[in-house]
Amino acid sequence: MGSDIKVQVKNLTKKFGDLLVLDNASFDIKKGEFLCIVGPTGCGKTTFLNLLVKLIEPTEGQILIDGEPADPKKHNLSFVFQEPSAFPWLTVEQNIRYGLETKKVAEGIIKERTDQIIGLLGLEKFRKSYPHQLSASTEQRIVIGRSFAMHPDLLLMDEPYGQMDIKLRYYLEDEVIKLWKATGSTVIFITHNIEEAVYLAERCLVLSQKPTTVKSEVVIDLERPRNIADPRFIDIRQKVTDMIKWW
Ligand SMILES: Nc1ncnc2c1ncn2[C@@H]1O[C@H](COP(=O)(O)OP(=O)(O)OP(=O)(O)O)[C@@H](O)[C@H]1O
Ligand SMILES: [Mg+2]
Repeated sequence: MGSDIKVQVKNLTKKFGDLLVLDNASFDIKKGEFLCIVGPTGCGKTTFLNLLVKLIEPTEGQILIDGEPADPKKHNLSFVFQEPSAFPWLTVEQNIRYGLETKKVAEGIIKERTDQIIGLLGLEKFRKSYPHQLSASTEQRIVIGRSFAMHPDLLLMDEPYGQMDIKLRYYLEDEVIKLWKATGSTVIFITHNIEEAVYLAERCLVLSQKPTTVKSEVVIDLERPRNIADPRFIDIRQKVTDMIKWW
């Protein structure tokens, strides 16, 4: 296997009882790639990420990270779930520090990164608040901050910006690109929003309805920052939209 592959998905099948969700899906994700996955509701996008972090086991097939069976304990990966999942017993600041403290990162670095992330995500005035005191989109920003702070090798994001208003979403899309560029992480970003996928991804996988396979992949080689009004951007967005609409 080439060393430029970060994640290898091999003949992955997942059934829940009689329900066949993922049907023999195979694809690779390159090191340092920003991959978006789009597909219809219920096709198994979250299921795929849950398999990747071993929350559930595949029915058949396997997922390799750096050539080894995926194991969240071994690999430096962070997961932003679809539902906000900040730790309710910790303040905003403590939530963001949490992963770094667990990894026993030096206090100076923890402080620097936490302050930077809190600034980046506009959480300054919520620093000492608890998640239940905040809106769902603010809570989601905490979780995003917790993941960004880790500088993960592999960042998994499951419709992370679904709850955000458009201004915040545009801002956070640029922030995830900045983080990706600064850290060289591999990013798997799931979204329903085709414009978002075309704005972010180097490559976009389009999934089918259940039983789910990879229907198509679209390479997006537009320069950054991307312009959503660029005719080339609009063309690609339309192409991906048609794939989802007509399949
Ligand atoms: N633990 C489970 N037990 C039984 N069925 C499940 C389980 N988890 C998911 N499913 C089913 O598997 C299918 C895929 O679900 P999944 O949540 O992965 O879809 P998704 O692509 O993430 O959808 P969405 O875009 O709405 O988030 C759905 O039909 C769902 O009902
Ligand atoms: Mg989902």
